[in-house]
Amino acid sequence: MRITVNVNGEDHTREVEPRHLLVRFLRDDLDLTGTHWGCDTSNCGTCVVLMDGEPVKSCTVLAVMAAGHEIRTVEGLAGTAGGDQLDPVQQGFIEEHGLQCGFCTPGMMLTGRALLDRNPDPSEQEIREAISGQLCRCTGYLNIVRSIQWAAKKQAESAAAATAAPTAAPAATLAGGQS
Ligand code: FES
Ligand code: FES
Repeated sequence: MRITVNVNGEDHTREVEPRHLLVRFLRDDLDLTGTHWGCDTSNCGTCVVLMDGEPVKSCTVLAVMAAGHEIRTVEGLAGTAGGDQLDPVQQGFIEEHGLQCGFCTPGMMLTGRALLDRNPDPSEQEIREAISGQLCRCTGYLNIVRSIQWAAKKQAESAAAATAAPTAAPAATLAGGQS
């Protein structure tokens, strides 16, 4: 079957078998290996990507089911705040040491992004519920939760700063002219 899937803002057209999994489409056909594959049982959640903004386990989605939809992978996470800037969630994982081996990290960050998009100020419980379908084998979720909390705080500060910023001065003023 010939399908077109929008991945990280770009359309990709490929011939695929009907049984082809989205995780294989991303990793093997598009070479987007930031999406990890950790089990054969739909349990680990390391393969999470966003489909139309919602987290899905890409090992449980057929590539043909993604046709006509928007997929976002970890490779498309930077740039949320403009330019090549890291997404606040990515920054949070750095600041709060949210990754150890890094295997679960792409999926965790994408789930964090989806959560903050629909709820910019989640409670700790809401964060824990959001990532509850994903396993971290490296012990403990505390730093992952803290990373998402850091991102929420950072986003709120950035939004407040943008609101408080004075409107741009007229060009004549900037040039030292008088009106
Ligand atoms: S690879 Fe484990 S749930 Fe998808
Ligand atoms: S950081 Fe190693 S599995 Fe989560």
